[in-house]
Amino acid sequence: MKLLGIDLSWASVEQSGLSHERSHWYSDSGGPDLKRLLDTLPIDNSDSVIDLGCGKGGAMLTLARYPFSCVDGVEISEQLAQTAVRNLARRKITNSRVFCADATDFLDLDTYTYIYMYNPFPERVTKSVLNNIRASLLRSGRTITLIYKNPIFDRLLLEYGLKKLLQTEQQHADCPPFGVYFANSTTIRAHSAELQHFVRSSVDLEAKQEETCDI
Ligand SMILES: C[S@@+](CC[C@H](N)C(=O)[O-])C[C@H]1O[C@@H](n2cnc3c(N)ncnc32)[C@H](O)[C@@H]1O
Repeated sequence: MKLLGIDLSWASVEQSGLSHERSHWYSDSGGPDLKRLLDTLPIDNSDSVIDLGCGKGGAMLTLARYPFSCVDGVEISEQLAQTAVRNLARRKITNSRVFCADATDFLDLDTYTYIYMYNPFPERVTKSVLNNIRASLLRSGRTITLIYKNPIFDRLLLEYGLKKLLQTEQQHADCPPFGVYFANSTTIRAHSAELQHFVRSSVDLEAKQEETCDI
């Protein structure tokens, strides 16, 4: 269904010509629930945002109502990416680009201060994207805010060194919560150091246990 020439209708993985191994389905998360969250965040024109798995651009249309200097998206399905371009043009949004790519191959993340994701991919792909985000933060010093709607891999984000700022309440059946996280090179380095310390302590403990067994 199209409203005023904007197509944001749901599409299955099969309809979008994708595989379940790399992708989740398309559904739109733009509108009042996202707006309510964005109203609480300190967004100004020094910020720029990218929607990883932007689909037909529904969330981008809402993000474009805030003072981001640019509102970009990455989408693996060419069909969905083309619809996003058409939708953004219909709304006369000019500070926006849609890249048709697998999010794991999209490494140009250094200019973004906000990242948006609406449960776009399975665990393996999410891990690879988180590695890209970590590498970008270590390369280019800044703090990012990551907004993750329906954060089913919340645990992974914490394991990769992101810090959780908040999780919203589920407002109604159709609106899963949003998780909001932040990270910068300092939090990522501190997290890696903690992990190394943990691994060293575990190795020491194992060595001590072996010594005790030898006695
Ligand atoms: C739940 S939809 C969210 C759409 C949009 N972000 C929004 O909130 O309105 C997830 C989108 O991620 C896309 N996607 C899935 N796997 C992807 C991948 N590996 N790389 C880039 N996009 C992907 C899907 O095609 C789908 O359009």
